[in-house]
Amino acid sequence: MKIKNIEFSNNLILAPMAGVTDVAFRSICIDFGADAGVTEMVSAKALSYNNKKTEDLLITAPNEKIKIVQIFGNDPYVMANICKSEYLEKFDIIDINMGCPAPKIVNNREGSFLMTDIELASKIIKSCVNATDKPITVKFRSGFDSKNINAVEFAKMCERSGASAITIHGRTRTQMYSGKVDLDIIKEVKKNVSIPVIASGDIVDIDSYLKTIKYTNCDAVMIGRGALGNPFVFSDILGQEINKNKYNVILKHIEILRKYYSENFISGHIRKHLLWYLKGEKNASEIKKKISIEPDLNEVLRILKVFFGSK
Ligand SMILES: Cc1cc2nc3c(=O)[nH]c(=O)nc-3n(C[C@H](O)[C@H](O)[C@H](O)COP(=O)(O)O)c2cc1C
Repeated sequence: MKIKNIEFSNNLILAPMAGVTDVAFRSICIDFGADAGVTEMVSAKALSYNNKKTEDLLITAPNEKIKIVQIFGNDPYVMANICKSEYLEKFDIIDINMGCPAPKIVNNREGSFLMTDIELASKIIKSCVNATDKPITVKFRSGFDSKNINAVEFAKMCERSGASAITIHGRTRTQMYSGKVDLDIIKEVKKNVSIPVIASGDIVDIDSYLKTIKYTNCDAVMIGRGALGNPFVFSDILGQEINKNKYNVILKHIEILRKYYSENFISGHIRKHLLWYLKGEKNASEIKKKISIEPDLNEVLRILKVFFGSK
């Protein structure tokens, strides 16, 4: 896949996930075969106020050869200014979030709300495209709700407005993350535009990957929940033989975070990742409980060492 001037070497991308796709997790997924990972969604407005927490979301790892940032917002002027700001200078691709279903985002006329206001969505895309030479891409859903499935129209609008690629998650806003992904709408979108189309939804292994690619004819896929606690999903799909050592992955995750963030931040943030990594591990229920309440990161590491050492 080629997005404007950016050439990918495979078609597996770690999907943007707020609170999840931190620099360490992206780096680990790339080590296991993802060609790129997308940052957590970043508020253009917060960046325009130089919000420190938001700036921290822009940290990237040395092994991110293709750096993709995702921004969200509803003001074409603010979005364009961020696209040309120093903040995004190091990124190769700027993705605009037009699919987030969270009430506080939608009520603010951002994320998937923009699927209900195609004119505003188009203005945002055009102003970002005009602000930078970098490829601007858009991620959206099948529609706002089951009565308003407008992904094909929306995709054509993205292309007309200058987007270099699109990602479609085959669910509506009201579905949030429930039900099954609608591959038919993704297939329809792919048929109706000539820019690259990336499919998102329910890809968790080689079978679901092949099914999605074959059925929709999409150029690439994004993998989200299938990678939680399981960065090996990328090497599995690529057919690469690797050592699936979760303890090493956990240590690496924490080691990378420690380069950039405070112990306090990490001990709160890492907990959910640890619970995902421990999913499926035998006899882990006791340590899951301990880890959930342990505030000290070094103590958490000690608990994990004992657990994995006894295996
Ligand atoms: C915890 C979580 C956070 C997410 N955050 C974002 C986000 O910030 N931006 C975005 O475009 N999509 C976000 N998504 C949606 C995913 O990128 C993806 O499109 C969706 O989960 C469907 O793919 P999956 O079945 O592979 O998870 C999020 C999903 C989850 C589960």
